[in-house]
Amino acid sequence: MAEINEKKRQKMEITRKQKRKQKHGEAGKEERNGNNDEAAKRSVETQPKSKPNKKMKSVSPYGNYKHYYGYRIGPGAEKEEDPRIKVFKKEWFEGKDCLDIGCNSGVITIQIAKKYNCDSILGIDIDSGLIEEAFWHLRKFVKMQSAGKKNTNDSNVKAVQDLDGSEERATKSSNAGAGNGSSHNSSGKRNLSDIVSFRQENFVRSRLPDKQYDTVLCLSVTKWIHLNWGDDGLITAFSKIWRLLRPGGVFILEPQPWNSYEKNRRVSETTASNYHDIKYRPDFFREMLLDKIGFRRVEDLTSELSGAKAGFNRSIFAYYK
Ligand SMILES: C[S@@+](CC[C@H](N)C(=O)[O-])C[C@H]1O[C@@H](n2cnc3c(N)ncnc32)[C@H](O)[C@@H]1O
Repeated sequence: MAEINEKKRQKMEITRKQKRKQKHGEAGKEERNGNNDEAAKRSVETQPKSKPNKKMKSVSPYGNYKHYYGYRIGPGAEKEEDPRIKVFKKEWFEGKDCLDIGCNSGVITIQIAKKYNCDSILGIDIDSGLIEEAFWHLRKFVKMQSAGKKNTNDSNVKAVQDLDGSEERATKSSNAGAGNGSSHNSSGKRNLSDIVSFRQENFVRSRLPDKQYDTVLCLSVTKWIHLNWGDDGLITAFSKIWRLLRPGGVFILEPQPWNSYEKNRRVSETTASNYHDIKYRPDFFREMLLDKIGFRRVEDLTSELSGAKAGFNRSIFAYYK
């Protein structure tokens, strides 16, 4: 009898172990799948409101990836600007006030300011650590600019991308000539620090400012707003963008496709629950923005895009107020 009981106990123990193994294996797989199209994972203090799931601890619940541009552009290997910038139009930025929602570490924000001579560009991000990084990029960039090292657009764009991949290289170039702190560089252009600024802000929850903008960018951010704050959060964001734009202003949108939502739905309990309740999928954004929010027309820039890395071939639209 005792022998039978012992056998029974051992069998139960084996089954329990197998179940546990299966469970952990699946969670790990999901975590990997969830981010294979984007970038490295990162924990932040700014967790969603629901209790963080212990298994989901080390993910980036807002898409707040560190080293995002290392994945998106290349770790300093490619000396080219972000391929999305090539389809942007000068008239959206030159002499304009611009807002970049979900700016991450500020690389594309700075590149836009530099290439198109914005009057001002503000990058906002929910993650304060990324905003610190964005300021770091800006400081380095300004130093190089005022060092008067070959003040051509190309060399500066290269420098920004190098910064993401190699601090050492960037520091060396910035030390090559001392910054003079003046508000114009040697070629007579305004210094980037007078044009570019960054601020930590949750765009969905923040108060509507008095200031309006000519151009608002929202690149690869809608999925994260949608998963964390559901349809209501997305509608809030779209309405807010419309109100922030001046008449004739442009909203540049790069939405992530619906199939990529599935991959990230389990980054937190909040996202998992919102994912199931989402009614307005990305295919419906166009109708929502034109018929409900009030944009006059849309221009699809997708066919002009080229050179995006695998996993980043996304559509880009310009909505006009
Ligand atoms: C995948 S990254 C895209 C970065 C950049 N826009 C680009 O395309 O190069 C998404 C960024 O949106 C930010 N983000 C997500 N939700 C946000 C919110 N509610 N308010 C502000 N930033 C947000 C994340 O922290 C992250 O840096």
